[in-house]
Amino acid sequence: MTTLDTFTTTNYTKINSKGSFTFSAPSNIALVKYWGKIENQIPANPSLSFTLNNCKTVTTLQYESKTEKNISFDLLFEGQPKESFRPKIQKYFERIQDLCPYVLDYHFTIDTKNTFPHSSGIASSASGMAALSVNIITLEKLVNPDETDDYYMQKASLLARLGSGSACRSIKGNIVVWGETESIENSSDLFGVDFLYEVNSVFENYQDTILLVDKGEKQVSSTVGHELMHNHPFAERRFQQAHENIAKLKEILKSGNLNEFIALVESEALTLHSMMMTSMPYFILMKPNTLEIINQIWKFRETTNVPVCFTLDAGANVHVLYPNKYKEEVQKFITDELAKYCQNNQFIHDEMGFGAEDLS
Ligand code: PMV
Repeated sequence: MTTLDTFTTTNYTKINSKGSFTFSAPSNIALVKYWGKIENQIPANPSLSFTLNNCKTVTTLQYESKTEKNISFDLLFEGQPKESFRPKIQKYFERIQDLCPYVLDYHFTIDTKNTFPHSSGIASSASGMAALSVNIITLEKLVNPDETDDYYMQKASLLARLGSGSACRSIKGNIVVWGETESIENSSDLFGVDFLYEVNSVFENYQDTILLVDKGEKQVSSTVGHELMHNHPFAERRFQQAHENIAKLKEILKSGNLNEFIALVESEALTLHSMMMTSMPYFILMKPNTLEIINQIWKFRETTNVPVCFTLDAGANVHVLYPNKYKEEVQKFITDELAKYCQNNQFIHDEMGFGAEDLS
Protein backbone atom coordinates (compact mmCIF):
# COMPACT_ATOMS: atom_id res chain seq x y z
CA MET A 1 0.00 0.00 0.00
CA THR A 2 1.13 3.50 -0.75
CA THR A 3 1.70 5.40 2.50
CA LEU A 4 3.23 8.74 3.30
CA ASP A 5 6.54 6.98 4.03
CA THR A 6 6.69 5.92 0.39
CA PHE A 7 7.19 9.58 -0.47
CA THR A 8 9.89 10.47 2.04
CA THR A 9 13.11 11.17 0.18
CA THR A 10 16.00 9.74 2.19
CA ASN A 11 18.77 9.38 -0.39
CA TYR A 12 19.68 12.40 -2.39
CA THR A 13 22.74 14.21 -3.64
CA LYS A 14 23.08 17.89 -2.95
CA ILE A 15 23.81 19.82 -6.11
CA ASN A 16 26.10 22.73 -5.35
CA SER A 17 24.94 25.19 -7.91
CA LYS A 18 22.02 27.34 -8.91
CA GLY A 19 19.39 27.12 -11.58
CA SER A 20 15.73 27.63 -12.29
CA PHE A 21 12.60 26.02 -13.73
CA THR A 22 9.27 27.44 -14.87
CA PHE A 23 6.01 25.54 -14.79
CA SER A 24 2.38 26.49 -15.24
CA ALA A 25 -0.52 24.75 -13.55
CA PRO A 26 -4.22 25.36 -14.11
CA SER A 27 -7.17 25.73 -11.83
CA ASN A 28 -9.76 22.94 -11.62
CA ILE A 29 -13.48 22.76 -11.02
CA ALA A 30 -14.92 20.07 -8.76
CA LEU A 31 -18.13 18.34 -9.84
CA VAL A 32 -18.25 16.24 -6.68
CA LYS A 33 -17.05 18.60 -3.96
CA TYR A 34 -14.42 18.23 -1.29
CA TRP A 35 -15.73 19.83 1.88
CA GLY A 36 -14.39 18.69 5.23
CA LYS A 37 -10.98 17.36 6.16
CA ILE A 38 -9.03 15.65 8.89
CA GLU A 39 -5.43 16.40 9.91
CA ASN A 40 -2.68 16.78 7.29
CA GLN A 41 -5.09 17.79 4.57
CA ILE A 42 -6.70 14.35 4.33
CA PRO A 43 -10.15 14.78 2.76
CA ALA A 44 -13.25 13.69 4.65
CA ASN A 45 -14.80 12.63 1.33
CA PRO A 46 -13.67 11.92 -2.24
CA SER A 47 -13.99 14.54 -4.98
CA LEU A 48 -13.85 14.57 -8.78
CA SER A 49 -12.90 17.52 -10.95
CA PHE A 50 -12.36 18.72 -14.48
CA THR A 51 -8.94 20.28 -14.90
CA LEU A 52 -9.17 23.70 -16.56
CA ASN A 53 -7.03 25.18 -19.29
CA ASN A 54 -6.97 28.98 -19.30
CA CYS A 55 -6.94 30.01 -15.64
CA LYS A 56 -3.34 29.24 -14.76
CA THR A 57 -0.51 30.19 -12.46
CA VAL A 58 2.97 30.39 -13.96
CA THR A 59 5.74 29.95 -11.40
CA THR A 60 9.50 30.24 -11.79
CA LEU A 61 11.55 28.63 -9.06
CA GLN A 62 15.18 29.70 -8.75
CA TYR A 63 17.30 27.61 -6.44
CA GLU A 64 20.77 28.33 -5.08
CA SER A 65 22.61 25.95 -2.78
CA LYS A 66 23.63 27.17 0.67
CA THR A 67 25.53 25.67 3.60
CA GLU A 68 23.12 26.07 6.50
CA LYS A 69 20.01 23.86 6.54
CA ASN A 70 16.83 25.91 6.87
CA ILE A 71 13.76 27.14 5.03
CA SER A 72 14.77 30.22 3.06
CA PHE A 73 12.92 31.92 0.21
CA ASP A 74 12.03 35.23 -1.45
CA LEU A 75 8.64 35.75 -2.99
CA LEU A 76 7.77 37.77 -6.04
CA PHE A 77 4.44 38.33 -7.72
CA GLU A 78 4.83 39.48 -11.32
CA GLY A 79 8.45 40.29 -10.56
CA GLN A 80 7.71 42.48 -7.51
CA PRO A 81 8.21 41.47 -3.85
CA LYS A 82 4.99 40.09 -2.33
CA GLU A 83 5.34 39.58 1.40
CA SER A 84 1.64 38.87 1.95
CA PHE A 85 2.12 35.38 0.41
CA ARG A 86 4.88 34.52 2.90
CA PRO A 87 2.89 32.86 5.74
CA LYS A 88 1.19 30.44 3.35
CA ILE A 89 4.44 29.49 1.59
CA GLN A 90 6.33 29.23 4.89
CA LYS A 91 3.67 26.80 6.14
CA TYR A 92 3.92 24.85 2.87
CA PHE A 93 7.70 24.40 3.28
CA GLU A 94 7.25 23.39 6.92
CA ARG A 95 4.73 20.75 5.87
CA ILE A 96 6.88 19.31 3.07
CA GLN A 97 10.32 19.48 4.70
CA ASP A 98 10.24 15.93 6.11
CA LEU A 99 9.15 14.50 2.76
CA CYS A 100 11.59 16.68 0.83
CA PRO A 101 14.56 17.30 3.17
CA TYR A 102 16.60 18.59 0.21
CA VAL A 103 14.59 21.85 0.23
CA LEU A 104 16.56 22.89 3.33
CA ASP A 105 19.79 22.98 1.26
CA TYR A 106 18.65 25.79 -1.04
CA HIS A 107 17.58 29.39 -1.01
CA PHE A 108 14.61 29.82 -3.36
CA THR A 109 13.27 32.77 -5.28
CA ILE A 110 9.68 32.07 -6.24
CA ASP A 111 8.22 34.31 -8.93
CA THR A 112 4.59 33.82 -9.75
CA LYS A 113 1.97 35.25 -12.05
CA ASN A 114 -1.59 34.36 -12.96
CA THR A 115 -3.11 34.33 -16.44
CA PHE A 116 -6.44 35.51 -15.02
CA PRO A 117 -6.93 39.09 -13.84
CA HIS A 118 -5.81 39.56 -10.25
CA SER A 119 -8.54 40.53 -7.84
CA SER A 120 -10.93 38.59 -10.09
CA GLY A 121 -12.06 36.71 -7.02
CA ILE A 122 -10.79 33.45 -8.53
CA ALA A 123 -8.90 31.49 -5.93
CA SER A 124 -5.37 31.00 -7.19
CA SER A 125 -4.38 28.63 -4.41
CA ALA A 126 -5.11 25.48 -6.45
CA SER A 127 -3.12 26.56 -9.51
CA GLY A 128 -0.47 28.31 -7.37
CA MET A 129 0.27 25.38 -5.08
CA ALA A 130 0.22 22.97 -8.02
CA ALA A 131 2.69 25.09 -10.04
CA LEU A 132 5.05 25.44 -7.05
CA SER A 133 4.89 21.71 -6.29
CA VAL A 134 5.75 20.68 -9.84
CA ASN A 135 8.79 22.95 -9.63
CA ILE A 136 9.87 21.38 -6.32
CA ILE A 137 9.48 17.90 -7.80
CA THR A 138 11.64 18.93 -10.75
CA LEU A 139 14.37 19.84 -8.25
CA GLU A 140 13.81 16.44 -6.62
CA LYS A 141 14.42 14.77 -9.99
CA LEU A 142 17.84 16.46 -10.07
CA VAL A 143 18.87 15.44 -6.57
CA ASN A 144 17.24 12.00 -6.65
CA PRO A 145 16.74 10.85 -10.26
CA ASP A 146 16.01 7.19 -9.50
CA GLU A 147 12.24 7.15 -9.13
CA THR A 148 9.57 6.50 -11.79
CA ASP A 149 7.54 9.18 -13.58
CA ASP A 150 4.44 7.92 -11.77
CA TYR A 151 6.14 8.44 -8.44
CA TYR A 152 7.11 12.03 -9.28
CA MET A 153 3.58 12.84 -10.51
CA GLN A 154 1.98 11.36 -7.40
CA LYS A 155 4.41 13.15 -5.14
CA ALA A 156 3.83 16.48 -6.94
CA SER A 157 0.10 16.04 -6.31
CA LEU A 158 0.76 15.08 -2.70
CA LEU A 159 2.90 18.20 -2.11
CA ALA A 160 0.25 20.38 -3.76
CA ARG A 161 -2.34 18.84 -1.43
CA LEU A 162 -0.27 19.90 1.57
CA GLY A 163 -0.38 23.48 0.24
CA SER A 164 -4.11 23.51 -0.51
CA GLY A 165 -6.30 20.40 -0.67
CA SER A 166 -7.93 20.89 -4.06
CA ALA A 167 -4.55 21.84 -5.61
CA CYS A 168 -3.71 18.12 -5.78
CA ARG A 169 -6.26 17.87 -8.61
CA SER A 170 -4.43 20.48 -10.74
CA ILE A 171 -1.26 18.55 -11.60
CA LYS A 172 -2.83 16.41 -14.30
CA GLY A 173 -5.87 16.37 -16.55
CA ASN A 174 -8.42 16.17 -17.73
CA ILE A 175 -10.53 14.40 -15.09
CA VAL A 176 -9.04 13.76 -11.66
CA VAL A 177 -10.29 11.96 -8.56
CA TRP A 178 -8.91 12.65 -5.10
CA GLY A 179 -9.87 10.63 -2.04
CA GLU A 180 -10.10 6.91 -1.54
CA THR A 181 -13.40 5.53 -2.79
CA GLU A 182 -14.54 2.07 -3.77
CA SER A 183 -15.69 2.81 -7.31
CA ILE A 184 -12.33 4.25 -8.43
CA GLU A 185 -9.46 1.79 -8.44
CA ASN A 186 -6.19 3.16 -7.04
CA SER A 187 -7.90 6.26 -5.64
CA SER A 188 -6.03 7.73 -2.71
CA ASP A 189 -6.46 10.26 0.07
CA LEU A 190 -2.83 11.27 -0.45
CA PHE A 191 -2.92 12.50 -4.07
CA GLY A 192 -5.16 12.95 -7.09
CA VAL A 193 -5.37 10.16 -9.68
CA ASP A 194 -6.34 10.23 -13.35
CA PHE A 195 -9.88 9.09 -14.08
CA LEU A 196 -8.99 6.09 -16.25
CA TYR A 197 -12.50 4.89 -17.17
CA GLU A 198 -14.42 5.33 -20.40
CA VAL A 199 -15.57 8.91 -21.04
CA ASN A 200 -18.28 9.72 -23.59
CA SER A 201 -17.23 12.06 -26.40
CA VAL A 202 -19.87 14.60 -25.29
CA PHE A 203 -17.48 15.54 -22.47
CA GLU A 204 -14.56 16.24 -24.83
CA ASN A 205 -13.43 19.83 -24.45
CA TYR A 206 -16.25 20.52 -21.99
CA GLN A 207 -16.65 24.26 -21.50
CA ASP A 208 -16.62 26.20 -18.23
CA THR A 209 -17.34 29.92 -18.20
CA ILE A 210 -16.60 31.50 -14.83
CA LEU A 211 -18.95 34.36 -14.00
CA LEU A 212 -17.26 36.80 -11.62
CA VAL A 213 -20.15 37.74 -9.37
CA ASP A 214 -18.20 38.99 -6.41
CA LYS A 215 -14.55 39.88 -6.36
CA GLY A 216 -14.38 40.84 -2.70
CA GLU A 217 -12.70 38.95 0.09
CA LYS A 218 -14.81 35.96 1.24
CA GLN A 219 -16.44 36.34 4.66
CA VAL A 220 -15.47 32.80 5.60
CA SER A 221 -12.33 31.11 4.26
CA SER A 222 -12.29 27.52 2.98
CA THR A 223 -10.06 26.59 5.92
CA VAL A 224 -12.73 27.69 8.38
CA GLY A 225 -15.48 26.13 6.25
CA HIS A 226 -13.75 22.71 6.25
CA GLU A 227 -13.29 23.03 10.00
CA LEU A 228 -17.02 23.55 10.51
CA MET A 229 -17.73 20.10 9.07
CA HIS A 230 -16.48 18.68 12.39
CA ASN A 231 -19.56 18.13 14.54
CA HIS A 232 -21.78 19.18 11.64
CA PRO A 233 -25.19 17.51 12.05
CA PHE A 234 -25.30 16.31 8.40
CA ALA A 235 -21.60 15.61 7.86
CA GLU A 236 -21.61 11.81 7.91
CA ARG A 237 -24.50 11.52 5.48
CA ARG A 238 -22.90 14.10 3.20
CA PHE A 239 -19.55 12.27 3.15
CA GLN A 240 -21.34 9.06 2.25
CA GLN A 241 -23.29 10.88 -0.48
CA ALA A 242 -20.02 12.04 -2.09
CA HIS A 243 -18.91 8.38 -2.42
CA GLU A 244 -22.28 7.52 -3.98
CA ASN A 245 -22.08 10.48 -6.35
CA ILE A 246 -18.61 9.55 -7.58
CA ALA A 247 -19.89 6.05 -8.40
CA LYS A 248 -22.90 7.54 -10.22
CA LEU A 249 -20.78 10.09 -12.06
CA LYS A 250 -18.45 7.34 -13.24
CA GLU A 251 -21.44 5.77 -15.05
CA ILE A 252 -22.71 9.14 -16.33
CA LEU A 253 -19.31 10.03 -17.78
CA LYS A 254 -19.45 6.75 -19.67
CA SER A 255 -23.05 6.98 -20.90
CA GLY A 256 -22.97 10.71 -21.68
CA ASN A 257 -26.45 11.15 -20.18
CA LEU A 258 -26.44 14.92 -19.78
CA ASN A 259 -29.74 15.12 -17.88
CA GLU A 260 -28.26 12.91 -15.19
CA PHE A 261 -24.99 14.85 -15.34
CA ILE A 262 -26.80 18.17 -14.81
CA ALA A 263 -28.87 16.85 -11.90
CA LEU A 264 -25.83 15.45 -10.13
CA VAL A 265 -23.58 18.47 -10.69
CA GLU A 266 -26.15 21.09 -9.65
CA SER A 267 -27.18 19.04 -6.63
CA GLU A 268 -23.52 18.79 -5.56
CA ALA A 269 -23.10 22.57 -5.82
CA LEU A 270 -26.22 23.29 -3.78
CA THR A 271 -25.32 20.60 -1.24
CA LEU A 272 -21.93 22.26 -0.71
CA HIS A 273 -23.64 25.56 0.02
CA SER A 274 -26.28 23.83 2.15
CA MET A 275 -23.46 22.50 4.32
CA MET A 276 -22.29 26.09 4.82
CA MET A 277 -25.79 27.27 5.67
CA THR A 278 -26.26 24.46 8.20
CA SER A 279 -22.86 24.85 9.92
CA MET A 280 -22.66 26.40 13.37
CA PRO A 281 -21.89 29.24 13.00
CA TYR A 282 -23.78 29.26 9.68
CA PHE A 283 -22.81 31.39 6.71
CA ILE A 284 -23.83 32.17 3.13
CA LEU A 285 -21.31 32.75 0.37
CA MET A 286 -23.82 33.11 -2.47
CA LYS A 287 -24.91 36.65 -3.38
CA PRO A 288 -28.26 37.76 -4.81
CA ASN A 289 -26.73 37.70 -8.31
CA THR A 290 -25.59 34.09 -7.80
CA LEU A 291 -29.27 33.15 -7.47
CA GLU A 292 -30.31 35.41 -10.37
CA ILE A 293 -27.82 33.59 -12.59
CA ILE A 294 -28.96 30.15 -11.43
CA ASN A 295 -32.56 31.05 -12.25
CA GLN A 296 -31.59 32.45 -15.66
CA ILE A 297 -29.69 29.24 -16.46
CA TRP A 298 -32.71 27.13 -15.49
CA LYS A 299 -35.00 29.30 -17.62
CA PHE A 300 -32.66 29.16 -20.62
CA ARG A 301 -32.31 25.39 -20.30
CA GLU A 302 -36.05 24.89 -20.10
CA THR A 303 -36.84 27.03 -23.13
CA THR A 304 -33.96 25.93 -25.40
CA ASN A 305 -33.19 22.38 -24.22
CA VAL A 306 -29.51 23.27 -24.35
CA PRO A 307 -27.79 21.09 -21.69
CA VAL A 308 -26.10 23.87 -19.77
CA CYS A 309 -25.74 23.75 -15.99
CA PHE A 310 -23.99 25.51 -13.14
CA THR A 311 -21.65 24.64 -10.34
CA LEU A 312 -20.27 26.74 -7.49
CA ASP A 313 -17.07 26.69 -5.51
CA ALA A 314 -16.60 28.23 -2.09
CA GLY A 315 -17.73 31.69 -3.14
CA ALA A 316 -20.35 33.68 -5.04
CA ASN A 317 -18.96 33.06 -8.53
CA VAL A 318 -20.83 30.73 -10.85
CA HIS A 319 -19.21 28.20 -13.18
CA VAL A 320 -21.37 27.62 -16.26
CA LEU A 321 -20.73 24.15 -17.70
CA TYR A 322 -21.74 23.08 -21.23
CA PRO A 323 -20.68 20.74 -24.05
CA ASN A 324 -18.30 22.17 -26.66
CA LYS A 325 -20.98 21.59 -29.29
CA TYR A 326 -23.20 24.30 -27.74
CA LYS A 327 -20.39 26.82 -27.28
CA GLU A 328 -21.74 29.44 -29.64
CA GLU A 329 -25.29 29.68 -28.30
CA VAL A 330 -24.30 29.41 -24.65
CA GLN A 331 -21.61 32.06 -24.97
CA LYS A 332 -24.12 34.37 -26.66
CA PHE A 333 -26.57 33.72 -23.80
CA ILE A 334 -23.81 34.54 -21.29
CA THR A 335 -22.92 37.81 -23.02
CA ASP A 336 -26.54 38.85 -23.55
CA GLU A 337 -28.20 37.65 -20.33
CA LEU A 338 -25.67 36.75 -17.63
CA ALA A 339 -22.82 39.27 -17.94
CA LYS A 340 -24.99 41.97 -16.37
CA TYR A 341 -25.03 40.04 -13.07
CA CYS A 342 -21.20 39.97 -12.95
CA GLN A 343 -19.01 42.62 -11.35
CA ASN A 344 -17.92 44.92 -14.18
CA ASN A 345 -19.60 42.43 -16.57
CA GLN A 346 -16.56 40.18 -16.12
CA PHE A 347 -16.43 36.50 -17.00
CA ILE A 348 -13.73 34.10 -18.19
CA HIS A 349 -14.22 31.39 -20.79
CA ASP A 350 -12.34 28.28 -19.86
CA GLU A 351 -12.44 24.61 -20.84
CA MET A 352 -11.06 21.22 -19.92
CA GLY A 353 -7.28 21.05 -19.90
CA PHE A 354 -4.41 18.73 -19.21
CA GLY A 355 -2.56 19.92 -16.12
CA ALA A 356 0.88 21.29 -15.40
CA GLU A 357 3.23 22.25 -18.24
CA ASP A 358 6.98 22.72 -18.39
CA LEU A 359 7.76 26.20 -19.70
CA SER A 360 11.44 26.14 -18.72
O1 PMV B 1 -8.73 23.38 -1.52
P1 PMV B 1 -9.53 24.19 -0.57
O2 PMV B 1 -9.18 23.93 0.86
O3 PMV B 1 -9.53 25.66 -0.91
O4 PMV B 1 -11.07 23.72 -0.68
C1 PMV B 1 -11.80 23.87 -1.85
C2 PMV B 1 -13.15 23.35 -1.69
C3 PMV B 1 -14.13 23.57 -2.84
O5 PMV B 1 -13.59 24.40 -3.84
C4 PMV B 1 -15.37 24.22 -2.30
C5 PMV B 1 -14.54 22.24 -3.45
C6 PMV B 1 -13.50 21.51 -4.25
O6 PMV B 1 -13.53 20.28 -4.21
O7 PMV B 1 -12.71 22.15 -4.95
